[in-house]
Amino acid sequence: MATEINDNYPDNKIELYELLCKQLAALVEGEKEPIPNLANASALLWMGLKDINWAGFYLMKNSELLLGPFQGKPACIHIPVGRGVCGEAAAQGCTLCVEDVHQFPGHIACDSASNSEIVIPIRSGDKIVGVLDIDSPILSRFDRADQEGLEEIVRIIEKACTWDNR
Ligand code: SME
Repeated sequence: MATEINDNYPDNKIELYELLCKQLAALVEGEKEPIPNLANASALLWMGLKDINWAGFYLMKNSELLLGPFQGKPACIHIPVGRGVCGEAAAQGCTLCVEDVHQFPGHIACDSASNSEIVIPIRSGDKIVGVLDIDSPILSRFDRADQEGLEEIVRIIEKACTWDNR
């Protein structure tokens, strides 16, 4: 049976991410395959987050980032580790929250509407297996509450999936 998801989301970010985490935990329950879980996670974030123009995933394959499930405009398929915000977050192994992407050296512009961006690495053991990437047309769209909430979203995804062969 499909999980019923209520799409009325609170403005308060603490409450918002609590609800999104609860809904994501229900969506991934009993499923270990990354692709369906990431597809549902990107749909959920797209539904729940205001003022965004892209939400999705890149997955590590052959030592580069390969486009995975997402919502938003078509995006570039291959990103070398160390390039752009996604590649840099994967190289550093930590979250990058960019207030103005036009000031970020090497930023890869997939949608000219994007002005700010947050990228969170996905880990399996000591390996980076992918990243969550969210773009916004608003400068400085992502704050500390977004970073903490989205890192919690990524923790749920890391635990739910099996990440063999990456
Ligand atoms: N802007 C990203 C590329 C991916 S798109 O935003 C979907 C970057 O610089 O890594």
